[in-house]
Amino acid sequence: MGTYLITGATGGIGTAVAELLRERGHDLILTGRSPERLDALAGALRTGAHAATQVINRGAVTSPPRTTSITTIPLDLTEPRRIEAALAMSGIPARLDGLVHAAGMVRLSPVAHLEADEWMEHLSVNLVSAAELTRLLLPALRAAEGQVVFVNSTAGLRANPGWAAYAASKFGLRALADSLRAEEPSLRVTTVYPGRTATEMQRRVRAQEGRPYAEGDFAAPATVARVLVSALETPRDAVVAEVTVRPH
Ligand SMILES: NC(=O)c1ccc[n+]([C@@H]2O[C@H](COP(=O)([O-])OP(=O)(O)OC[C@H]3O[C@@H](n4cnc5c(N)ncnc54)[C@H](OP(=O)(O)O)[C@@H]3O)[C@@H](O)[C@H]2O)c1
Repeated sequence: MGTYLITGATGGIGTAVAELLRERGHDLILTGRSPERLDALAGALRTGAHAATQVINRGAVTSPPRTTSITTIPLDLTEPRRIEAALAMSGIPARLDGLVHAAGMVRLSPVAHLEADEWMEHLSVNLVSAAELTRLLLPALRAAEGQVVFVNSTAGLRANPGWAAYAASKFGLRALADSLRAEEPSLRVTTVYPGRTATEMQRRVRAQEGRPYAEGDFAAPATVARVLVSALETPRDAVVAEVTVRPH
């Protein structure tokens, strides 16, 4: 069993990843902005209440998982310079089998209206904080010959009108992943490119686009999580370097 740190654990995809890893008996370190929502999530994962929402793997677990350790670290990723102190207060694990970067934000706007603060928030949350967190956790990841998963986006492969700040942050995230993979041969590094996924982020995107939100039009977060966790579970002789998951 391993230890996995998940950013954006309170979000749709992050929670789904936490649920799957918890079902497998791994220890979890959950980060998000709200201490209250992190505590509620940790409580639900401990009691197994989450299983009601986790349809895909129902039936796959034949015996109750071992008691997992679930810790929470409130982190606001708009302030990458503060991550080091926050982690130091919580205690960085000596070994980390996996780091899943699932936190992210988006506000659509044409370049003509994108002011510097908007650019900086997208880049801080979606890119710089991921780089800083990775840097701080590298010793623990190296000790475990662990894995780093970056939840990117199909917007990180193609930038459409209105998506410049978000897409730029995700293009950058791809560069971060590719450089890290080349620099750290003991680690396995994966980029997951989800298409539109049925989460709060997508609900907000649809509102910004002035279009209706229907959950069934999008990939389920549990499906994206399943692909991500299967990359984590790939035998050590190979790495899933990149995978795209589009709604069907
Ligand atoms: N949904 C999609 O259609 C879609 C498609 C492609 C890629 N993605 C990517 O998938 C990842 C997960 O997104 P999601 O769909 O699960 O969205 P979500 O439900 O809105 O979750 C986003 C997560 O990021 C966290 N977060 C946002 N701003 C933060 C900040 N300043 N500091 C710390 N944490 C912050 C949120 O924390 P709070 O709970 O505190 O808000 C939440 O846990 C993101 O990287 C996103 O770009 C999503």
